Amino acid sequence: MIIVLLGPPGAGKGTQADRLSTKLGIPKIATGDVLRAAVRDGTKRGREAKAYMDRGDLVPDSVILGILQDVMTSPAAKKGAILDGAVRTVPQAEGLGTMLKEIGKKVDKVLLFDVDDEELVKRLSGRTVCEGCQTPYMGREPGSICEKCGHKLVRRKDDEPEAIRNRLEVYRRQTAPVVDWYRNHKMSVSRIDADAPVDTVTSRALKALGREKREEGRGKREVRK
Ligand code: AP5
Repeated sequence: MIIVLLGPPGAGKGTQADRLSTKLGIPKIATGDVLRAAVRDGTKRGREAKAYMDRGDLVPDSVILGILQDVMTSPAAKKGAILDGAVRTVPQAEGLGTMLKEIGKKVDKVLLFDVDDEELVKRLSGRTVCEGCQTPYMGREPGSICEKCGHKLVRRKDDEPEAIRNRLEVYRRQTAPVVDWYRNHKMSVSRIDADAPVDTVTSRALKALGREKREEGRGKREVRK
């Protein structure tokens, strides 16, 4: 199953991608994480991407389509993938569609995480991330230690106020039209109200994916693997 996660910066795409990956047993592919690793490793791709990322601008489509080509044809993505922030322009949506068609696959579902701007700014300006495993934290100071892998937490350069403003504007201008593109191409798009506790958002996402069912007679919900 190939699932595309859309939504503005700070909507919780990364948080939910990790959870959905565990629940559904398919890998998460986050272009932001791939690019940050390339910047850290000082590769050609990383050097090309860094200035765009620091400003909160989008990295050129050619770079992203190169990443998607590598990962979608790799054995890791054989069972499918959860694409976190990997499609942010109409040319990227078109390019991904073409490359998937060539390998006999398609996007099965698009989830759009919706949160208002005030909450997004609050989340991004309060976020630190693990420099090792990239796990995001709220309300933890830079220099604290990641509970998952023991690396240090840092503040992302694009979580500075000016870059946050630019990222929101870039989202509206370049990424929001991708939602209509998928709808116009008859893909199943579900809007998720993501201004809710993390567990609630996960339940909503699983429901939209048809992976949550009501337990007969007990009125409880369980996750179907
Ligand atoms: P990327 O790293 O993908 O950044 P982003 O899209 O701006 O998304 P974020 O990671 O900031 O937010 P998120 O929605 O994942 O939320 P998160 O779960 O972290 O990309 C970085 C840059 O790389 C881009 O700006 C661009 O330059 C480049 N790039 C990447 N992909 C590209 C592409 N396809 N094309 C071109 N350029 C590309 O949550 C945010 C915070 O909120 C966390 O602290 C979290 O703990 C908290 N939180 C999460 N859910 C909740 C909740 N329900 N309630 C309260 N807090 C919550």
